[in-house]
Amino acid sequence: MANKVIYPIFDKMLSREDKEQLLRQRGVMIWMTGLSGSGKSTVAIGVERELHKRGILCRILDGDNIRAGINSNLGFSPEDRRENIRRIAEIGKLFVQTGIVTIACFVSPTKELREMARDIIGPDDFREVYIATPLEECERRDVKGLYARARRGEVKEFTGISAPFEAPEHPDLSLDTSRMTLEEEVEAVVGLITQK
Ligand code: ADX
Repeated sequence: MANKVIYPIFDKMLSREDKEQLLRQRGVMIWMTGLSGSGKSTVAIGVERELHKRGILCRILDGDNIRAGINSNLGFSPEDRRENIRRIAEIGKLFVQTGIVTIACFVSPTKELREMARDIIGPDDFREVYIATPLEECERRDVKGLYARARRGEVKEFTGISAPFEAPEHPDLSLDTSRMTLEEEVEAVVGLITQK
């Protein structure tokens, strides 16, 4: 008897479905891609507030909480951006599988990076939202002063200036924040989340 290995039922981790039933919602990843200063975080914060009002639990992952913490050892070389996005996708998957509406706000500048994120998270749980604000508008806003520094050559490999940005070809949603109000943008993303 001493050697008998038993796997009692209470030893099993609860499933995603158990958690989604508890929360009465479905986990999904809203993956926002776009240039620095395009408005990804602003839209995400608006969406989070609207979902919260409707009783939907949401988590935003963005540069400030990820690059300052778990990814503080990474820079902006192609290899580091890849590792940045890989870790974010793995972390995001944990949230999605806990039934949480998760919004990732990262430049994620290439198709390859976004495909990797989609593969890690799983295509059924992944929605791509392109914040399609034109470069000129992002540069005009220059909230962090980084475009000016990049133009002076003080910031290397800056996306849109000295490093590539590949626009998504078939995003689930495309929003140009220079042509829409924040309210309209939030409504569109919330619509994508609550559809079906
Ligand atoms: S990603 O390319 O790896 O997806 P991420 O979204 O995490 O980038 O970080 C982008 C933010 O880092 C920008 O909004 C900007 O504030 C800052 N940043 C600093 N250096 C660079 C750079 N060389 N290229 C792009 N963004 C940079």
